[in-house]
Amino acid sequence: MSAQSMTASWLPALALDELWEGEMIAVEVGTTSVLLVNVDGDVRAYRNRCPHQEWALDEGDFDGEVITCSRHLWEFEACSGAGRNPATASLTGFPCRVTEDGMIQVDVGPG
Ligand code: FES
Repeated sequence: MSAQSMTASWLPALALDELWEGEMIAVEVGTTSVLLVNVDGDVRAYRNRCPHQEWALDEGDFDGEVITCSRHLWEFEACSGAGRNPATASLTGFPCRVTEDGMIQVDVGPG
């Protein structure tokens, strides 16, 4: 077991300047489409696919609190990815962080 396998693989996703509070945007991180969401200044990262039928979530709405899929209007808490309607579904989250120089980094895992 190498030490490298125990560490996160942070990849640059977007400059924080380009994601204002209350906004969401999809970016490609490696080969993964990632939905970045700025919730009151805190950035969250999710797989950009609805758990219902894989619709791209960035085509939906974000009111600052809730992400709504445009396909069949399922709703998710932006701060946690938990399902609001229905409560049994949830988004797949990725670890993310903002570096000192203002770059959002995401660990999408081994893919
Ligand atoms: S695909 Fe998102 S609600 Fe159906």
